[in-house]
Amino acid sequence: MASISLFAGLALVVGVGLGAPSVLEAQEEVVEYRQSLMQAFRMHMGGVGAAMGDAAPMGHAVHHARAFNGMAQALANAFPTGSEGGRAVAAIWSDRDGFMDRVTAIQTATADLVEAAESGNAEAVSAAMQAVRGTCGACHQTYRDPASQ
Ligand code: HEC
Repeated sequence: MASISLFAGLALVVGVGLGAPSVLEAQEEVVEYRQSLMQAFRMHMGGVGAAMGDAAPMGHAVHHARAFNGMAQALANAFPTGSEGGRAVAAIWSDRDGFMDRVTAIQTATADLVEAAESGNAEAVSAAMQAVRGTCGACHQTYRDPASQ
């Protein structure tokens, strides 16, 4: 399911370069794009989890953690001014500093996850995963609309 959404998101991003969408369409595509980033977060969390169990080789945790950290860097520019929509709340733009603190938190937590995965220490990976998960909830609590959609 997550991979289907991700694929749809990527298809939209490719589409941006091909057509000349209206302002509203362009705005919707930004919303779709950042939602696909979120789906990628979820997918890479699952990938690290699979690598910690028997479903995938332990070495895959490193690939997922690095991609995850890359997505967290991309998050910094995924909510440009004028891209209101989806479940994003107005505080993302009115309280920019607070929102960017939450972005920095996931960037730092996923960088720690990369380090833990590279060490191959299961306990360190598990602790880092828990910290990453905390940054998801902390941001959603304030900056994602719980009621709509
Ligand atoms: C800096 C803030 C922030 C962080 C950190 C964050 N999210 Fe989100 N997330 C949002 C916002 C805002 C939305 C709503 C976006 C929209 O609809 O435009 C969202 C939406 C989502 C969605 C729904 C996407 C969709 O298809 O509609 C998922 C799934 C998600 N986040 C997972 C995660 C996971 C997992 C993490 C942590 C690994 C995470 N998020 C970290 C802010 C954040």
